[in-house]
Amino acid sequence: MAPTDVMDKLVSLAKRRGFVFQSSEIYGGLGSVWDYGPLGVELKRNIKDRWWRAMVQQRDDIEGLDAAILMHPKVWEASGHIAGFTDPLVDCKQCKNRFRADDERLKGPPGAPDTACPVCGNRGTLTAPRMFNLMFKTFMGPVEEAAAVVYLRPETAQGIYVNYLNVLQASRQKIPFGIAQIGKAFRNEITPGNFIFRTREFEQMEMQFFVKPGTEDEWFEFWRAARMQWHQDLGVRQEKLRFHAHTKDELAHYAKAAYDIEYEFPFGWHEFEGVHNRTDFDLSRHQQFSGKKLEYVETATNERFVPCVVETSVGADRTALAVLCDAYHEEEVAGEKRVVLRLHPSLAPVKAAVFPLVNKEGMPEFARRLYHDLRARFNAFYDDSGSIGRRYRRQDEAGTPFGVTVDGQTLQDGTVTVRDRDTLVQVRVAADQLGGHLSERLAA
Ligand code: GAP
Repeated sequence: MAPTDVMDKLVSLAKRRGFVFQSSEIYGGLGSVWDYGPLGVELKRNIKDRWWRAMVQQRDDIEGLDAAILMHPKVWEASGHIAGFTDPLVDCKQCKNRFRADDERLKGPPGAPDTACPVCGNRGTLTAPRMFNLMFKTFMGPVEEAAAVVYLRPETAQGIYVNYLNVLQASRQKIPFGIAQIGKAFRNEITPGNFIFRTREFEQMEMQFFVKPGTEDEWFEFWRAARMQWHQDLGVRQEKLRFHAHTKDELAHYAKAAYDIEYEFPFGWHEFEGVHNRTDFDLSRHQQFSGKKLEYVETATNERFVPCVVETSVGADRTALAVLCDAYHEEEVAGEKRVVLRLHPSLAPVKAAVFPLVNKEGMPEFARRLYHDLRARFNAFYDDSGSIGRRYRRQDEAGTPFGVTVDGQTLQDGTVTVRDRDTLVQVRVAADQLGGHLSERLAA
């Protein structure tokens, strides 16, 4: 399949089955903003829950935080975002399209008389590059004046830095320790696209690990390996994952070293997580701009220092896209085509679907009871419409790991069939042991 075909199919499945919808679609949509439907919201919650379990609840040395989106505007001066969070932008004076100056479709330097616009083809219509800040601005309070400007945060990390002392004191942690947060971030991207890959509103899962200066390189290596392992544990195919070390030109203004974790999307290898060695840049800058001491005092030695930070930053939406691309399969079963999402069971929006084979002879009543029992353990679904084959296909497309069918034999011996989404193997299980049976297989 050509890469564009795969993306077209995925976008169409995502809409049809209720994973992802275009924002404000009935008004023609809003550029690169997306809404998550009933299955998508479950998938994204499962991704975030798994991250939170691994990064906060299963570690003694990381605390959670939920800082507000709006922050004091000085935060963004200190962080360097007002001065440095910019992209060079080129306008076409003829067709009014905008491009990043490094857009590979631009043949020749923008602003030169014979460089052609990649959309309308006119020559000499592209402006010279201008720097464009990617932060969204709004106003706090009733007056729209410069003094009231606040920004929608372009990363969650700054909420962690400004709360570093609060968390340290409240939790009585000792260095090295981390603070983790999941939350929305906003960037007025010039060239967004590729579905939910680059959007203007998205969610980040970020962790800032505070360490003693001199130990940051070791922790940087530790976290890059740990984060790669996390993606592999999600079931993402190993051959579709790789590291990319940033060259000097690629490094963000705050980083001394950085690795991207890349996935091979249908449109090529791209970053979906960044692991950054941010040195003491952030805390030193906040100390300088706020006038508040952000030093750590080591109790044993009374030594004082501004901690260095190793950051892990992954997009929840980009992870959802990577996971969906990785799970999407088309195959032939008994001469019929089926589309199946081979999602890791922990990520699957629905864990088991229950079907009465026919809508008579007490089967729907039995199946409904079973469905209610299962719902107490995990997200389940009941479906009694259409042929059993069609019902299986619908759940295959939703990525549901197990299909449970109540049939004639159920009413005689109390067993049901359990169909495995991936192997298609069916086994008979006693209905009164079904919950335990499925829980075990989901955890395997
Ligand atoms: N605090 C560091 C930071 O924000 P980043 O590399 O700019 O680093 C981290 O972003 C992650 O956030 C990316 O790897 C990606 O998964 C996600 N991300 C960034 N911009 C995005 C966008 N416009 N749309 C969707 N996800 C985005």
